[in-house]
Amino acid sequence: MNDKELVAHYAAQQVLDGMLVGLGTGSTANYFIAELARRVKDDALNIQVASSSVISTLKAQEQGLSIVSIEHLERLDLYVDGADEITPDLVLLKGRGSDLVREKLMARAAERFLVIADQSKLVSRIGEKFSIPIEVPPFAWRLVKRSLEALGGHGDLRPNANKDGFWITSHGSLVLDMTFPESMGNERLNEALNSTPGVVEHGIFHGLASVVYVADNGQVVEKRR
Ligand code: A5P
Repeated sequence: MNDKELVAHYAAQQVLDGMLVGLGTGSTANYFIAELARRVKDDALNIQVASSSVISTLKAQEQGLSIVSIEHLERLDLYVDGADEITPDLVLLKGRGSDLVREKLMARAAERFLVIADQSKLVSRIGEKFSIPIEVPPFAWRLVKRSLEALGGHGDLRPNANKDGFWITSHGSLVLDMTFPESMGNERLNEALNSTPGVVEHGIFHGLASVVYVADNGQVVEKRR
């Protein structure tokens, strides 16, 4: 069993009978979905799930989980998702996939947000390994890019997989992948992006994770703020 699978199985043990569970997106979240489905069958759990992306909805359907549409959600007991970067104070970078809006909504709606990752995701600051995904409506991207450049940002629209056009999110947004000066710090950058007109959502998840489970060489460590 690899570290992503190990940590996903560890998180699946947190699910209790009767819970409404949010499903994240990515390879680690996929292991969680599979293990959750196994527990539903083997432990006769009666749970419902809501999904943060089209791909996770398909995975959940394939595994026979009972799905609640996000439109009907008022809250979640638990949301379990991966991350692209995790700082020591549990600020996350997410959104290499295309469902940032749903991911952040579900993280906020959950009683507990469990983050599952292998140790490759640990960084000292947001933006250390990846640029920051920023969703913008197609009509707004130039104006938003100029605002972000005025903050010291650099970057451009994310290309699509064939590199013959641009990446479109499941909500029809474009994605600006931006880097910012290290001196801005996670908190200031988060606030600046929150208050930039035209930004639909961005990949910094500040103050949302309840706990991070990190697997490193076959061991799971729990990190809390
Ligand atoms: C999805 O948009 C991201 O936020 C994922 O949570 C992230 O890319 C983690 O992916 P892996 O579990 O595949 O590393």
